[in-house]
Amino acid sequence: MDALVAAAIEARRHAHAPFSKFQVGAALEDSDGRVWTGCNIENATYGLTVCAERVAVLKAMSEGVRQFTRVAIAAATDHPTPPCGACRQILWEFCGDIEVILSNPSGVTETFRLKDLFPRPFDVSFIR
Ligand code: THU
Repeated sequence: MDALVAAAIEARRHAHAPFSKFQVGAALEDSDGRVWTGCNIENATYGLTVCAERVAVLKAMSEGVRQFTRVAIAAATDHPTPPCGACRQILWEFCGDIEVILSNPSGVTETFRLKDLFPRPFDVSFIR
């Protein structure tokens, strides 16, 4: 199994999802080959929940990382779970057209380019 997928599956173990019970892990690879993991973290307001992908992006950026290559996302669904719309926006803005690997603990994977999952994005080019 790809080490990035394994890292996403492992990160999922830390998910805090008492409301949805839907646990997600993410592992984001930077251009130096370092891996930044994340899991979804829910809270009592529901609306302030942060998805696994955004936790991984924010962890990396808060440590000064700005170049990324791939992200793996893991959830226990038969058909691997894709990133939500908000995460596609954040991944696009901060990671660009990275490879997105969807996976589940059974080892099923599907690989996409982010531009194919998030066509015609709104980004900073429109507001400068
Ligand atoms: N979730 C993620 O962590 N990533 C996604 O891209 C889809 C949704 C989380 C948010 C919430 O905690 C739970 O999955 C159910 O929506």
